Amino acid sequence: MKARITVLPGDGVGPEVTAEAVNILEAVGQIYGHKFQFDQALLGGCAIDQTGQPLPLETLGLCQAGDAVLLGAVGGPRWSDPTAAVRPEQGLLGLRKQLGLFANLRPVKLTPSLLHCSTIKPEVLAGVDLLVVRELTGGIYFGPRLESEAVTGRGEAFDTMLYHRQEIERVARVAAEAAQARRRSLASVDKANVLASSRLWRQVVTGVIESEYPELSLEHVLVDAMAMHLIRRPAAFDVVLAGNLFGDIITDEASMLAGSLGLLPSASVGKDLNRLDLPRGLYEPIHGSAPDIAGQGIANPLAAILSAAMLLRHSLGLDAEAGAVEAAVAAVLDQGLRTIDIGELNASVVGSAAMGEAVCNAVTEGRRGH
Ligand code: IPM
Ligand code: MG
Repeated sequence: MKARITVLPGDGVGPEVTAEAVNILEAVGQIYGHKFQFDQALLGGCAIDQTGQPLPLETLGLCQAGDAVLLGAVGGPRWSDPTAAVRPEQGLLGLRKQLGLFANLRPVKLTPSLLHCSTIKPEVLAGVDLLVVRELTGGIYFGPRLESEAVTGRGEAFDTMLYHRQEIERVARVAAEAAQARRRSLASVDKANVLASSRLWRQVVTGVIESEYPELSLEHVLVDAMAMHLIRRPAAFDVVLAGNLFGDIITDEASMLAGSLGLLPSASVGKDLNRLDLPRGLYEPIHGSAPDIAGQGIANPLAAILSAAMLLRHSLGLDAEAGAVEAAVAAVLDQGLRTIDIGELNASVVGSAAMGEAVCNAVTEGRRGH
């Protein structure tokens, strides 16, 4: 098949990890006979530096013209002055909104050979396999706001957690469909004991599941309790549905179940009127730009590589190829290869490029083995 993939390396470690993910996609293209075209564009701080805008129109146009977007990370201390008129993160949020990517899928699965990398006891982690579905284009990230003193001269500021029924319904359906294909259990996260938007969230989720997916088991969990349950009994969860802010927070927490933030991929999808079959989608590691280690070639590229696998599966429909990349990642981890974030005592710690190359080789070998 032919596909156009827009690559947005972004800031910090973004360019280092996306380079490895692109290498893997190129290898997959060669091995399986696909023609992938890569168009690189600016997003985030690097885009501000070069164009003054975090999401240049040219970047948006390329993303809209392509079949999928592969993203590194945005942001860093250089652009974090609170009085700045534009910020890198606005580029990412704008892109999610403009592409209509309202559902963010963040799978958290324990790799057995990494059981001891987590700060959590192995017996608590055994069997962890969950999927967080995070609402991505609504809630407090996009509601009405007032900036504070630094910008407006006022000693107050606010953000608004605003949700419309339809926004909750559509993401609830994505989570329900995922649960149907998995263990048929859905936990919806909210703060309904305090927030009006959470009471609407709970009511709408209950309505969608009861009327359209009666075979699913549904529980509602308050977000503070969820933070606790995630480290107390993480294996009990299958699909976890959360709004934008709560989903952001609990997925950083959940990443520690897998051993490192550097391991977790994500897929952002939505309805796309121009593509009736597969969603365009944006694929990115959930880790940020990690400015403290940027430019050293030591960042873990596996989250970016696993994001590329999700791209193959969700936007290009290439299930076998996606599975091959995931199997290759598991194989190099089983061999004991480690980047610094998951480097236990006595492990052989390698840099981003060596890790990427090892995965490439494993994809090639896996294909030969068939
Ligand atoms: C994430 C990140 C982003 C978010 C930031 C970089 C804007 O933390 O994707 O989880 O908050 O959504
Ligand atoms: Mg986050």
